[in-house]
Amino acid sequence: MAKVKLAVIYYSTYGTNHMMATAAAEAAEAAGAEVRLRKCRETAPQEVVQKQDAWKATAERTKDVEVVTPDDMAWADAYLFSSPTRYGGAASQVRAFIDTLGPLWQKGGLADKCVTAMTSAMNPHGGQETTLQTLYFTFMHWGAIIVPPGYTDDAVSKAGGNPYGTSVTAGKPKLDDTDVAAIRHQATRLVRTAEALLKGRS
Ligand SMILES: Cc1cc2nc3c(=O)[nH]c(=O)nc-3n(C[C@H](O)[C@H](O)[C@H](O)COP(=O)(O)O)c2cc1C
Repeated sequence: MAKVKLAVIYYSTYGTNHMMATAAAEAAEAAGAEVRLRKCRETAPQEVVQKQDAWKATAERTKDVEVVTPDDMAWADAYLFSSPTRYGGAASQVRAFIDTLGPLWQKGGLADKCVTAMTSAMNPHGGQETTLQTLYFTFMHWGAIIVPPGYTDDAVSKAGGNPYGTSVTAGKPKLDDTDVAAIRHQATRLVRTAEALLKGRS
């Protein structure tokens, strides 16, 4: 059977969502998917980025990651989004990319794709759930098939128990093992669900 094609799409100012997306991409590859790891284009002015050491460092560290395009969305059978929380919603860089998808959406190119999302926030109750839910509202408009982790594995509870998607408290230089386990579970579950759908369609 053909491999599931998965686009892992993230935006990261300070590095957390880059680490999360990388862990998800590795887990999805280990689960047998063909993966494209892609970042959303930076929309903040360069003079702002260059004035913050941590922001500048992330931009430098991830300079070789390709910027996501609508073609990646057309190519993939499944999507995994990872975005920082911004005032309880997704980062504007992610929304800006989503706003380029009108033509693909109008021809049904986003329908029936499996999708899940992850986030990070500075505070444990800083808006993780609303960030994921507002992304999921958009995915419903696409007619995509949302694959939340729910409480389908102990890893979810051990990482804080967010059934909507893995959410990490930001500001750590490295992800906790519990975060990585939850990300692996979420990514693997997405690949397995997409595989089952592909099989049913073949
Ligand atoms: C403009 C702005 C708005 C933010 N809003 C929130 C918020 O509402 N709640 C919260 O807990 N953290 C908030 N944060 C913190 C970010 O969520 C945090 O920096 C991010 O999760 C780190 O992810 P990254 O390392 O991938 O950039 C905000 C940060 C910025 C810059």
